[in-house]
Amino acid sequence: MISRRALLTGAAASALTPAHAAGPETLASAAARAGLIFGASIDSAAFDNSAYLDLYRRETRMYVSDVALKFDWLRPAPDIWNFRPADAIVEAARADGKLVRGHTLIWNDNAPAWLKKLSSREIERVFDEHIERVVGRYAGQLHSWDVVNEPFWPMDRKAGGWRDGPWFAAMGSAYVERAFRRAASVDPKAKLTLNEAQCDNDGDWGRSIRPLLRGLVDRLRDSGAPLHAIGLQSHLQSEFPRNYPDFRTYVDGFGAKGLEVYISEFDVNDAAFPSETAERDAAVAALAGEFLANVLASPAVKLVVTWQLSDRYSWYREVARKRLIGLGRKPRPLPFDDEFRPKPLRAAMIQAFEARTRGAKK
Ligand code: G3I
Repeated sequence: MISRRALLTGAAASALTPAHAAGPETLASAAARAGLIFGASIDSAAFDNSAYLDLYRRETRMYVSDVALKFDWLRPAPDIWNFRPADAIVEAARADGKLVRGHTLIWNDNAPAWLKKLSSREIERVFDEHIERVVGRYAGQLHSWDVVNEPFWPMDRKAGGWRDGPWFAAMGSAYVERAFRRAASVDPKAKLTLNEAQCDNDGDWGRSIRPLLRGLVDRLRDSGAPLHAIGLQSHLQSEFPRNYPDFRTYVDGFGAKGLEVYISEFDVNDAAFPSETAERDAAVAALAGEFLANVLASPAVKLVVTWQLSDRYSWYREVARKRLIGLGRKPRPLPFDDEFRPKPLRAAMIQAFEARTRGAKK
């Protein structure tokens, strides 16, 4: 029988629960001890399924818009502004006590057909108006914004490796600095991020995009543009070569310039791993574990975001359905399975967060 005094002093709680009574270990709590924010991208899948939303509530500290803030979703037609999905994320985060990260304000990919038909002058007007209206709507409420996503894509064969698309066609590479300056003038609080793909690997893509991104960052810094963080997406590809010391040096280089680094879209493409589920999950966890152990040793890294939480809603499922990867089997790139059960990847991530905590205490 627990005494009234024990109830009042809280001694009852420690009598009933184990020593780690602060709550069960989650990705968010392990990350927080390591000085990291852990988040995940979120979309209507979580709002249509309360068990999935519960997983976000339990395991994350930050909600990141997946598609809701992209230009083509916000503005399917010139006279339609569809803020509802993005508002839902911001409202859910407020209700659940989470941070919000906006992805992504300006991207040359996935532009709607109507935008591509405009003249350069009209595109510039749409660009400025878009930033003002979208950043303004959430000003003061976001932890950070991916202001520009994936500026480089050498496969587009533009001089300088720039990704082609309406913004680039209208303004050339100047669109990047213009976006940062305008976003800062509307929301001086959000950390303004330049987000890029592929830099994590040591294959042809990684090696070609890394120096391009570093050069752009140097130019933005030299011109005094308001740039606060670099997002390295880190959609790990199982078949690509890696060079961890080089990547660590690359990440530390941004830190030396006073920038934060975000692992901003983490997941593991398991296409090159064995088909048997347990073996595949173990291989995914091993690759993620070694990647994180290396990159999280850099104090510049402040945030880890996975792209969704459950395999069931990974973008790789759509890619596999279209038979672009994986010979028809279902990709398992995330820390929770289709039934929201934790996978070895979750354990590997927690282990990497704990290793960083131990490293910081040394
Ligand atoms: O929901 C609609 C559905 O109603 C419609 O019937 C169907 C027809 O194609 O489309 C569905 O929308 C798809 C949407 O994902 C669902 O969330 C879109 O076609 C599809 O293009 C869209 O793909 C997104 C992709 O970016 C392009 O915007 C992925 O969800 C999203 O995870 C992915 O995220 C990108 C990051 O922004 C940048 N880095 C790479 C990352 C992965 O590709």
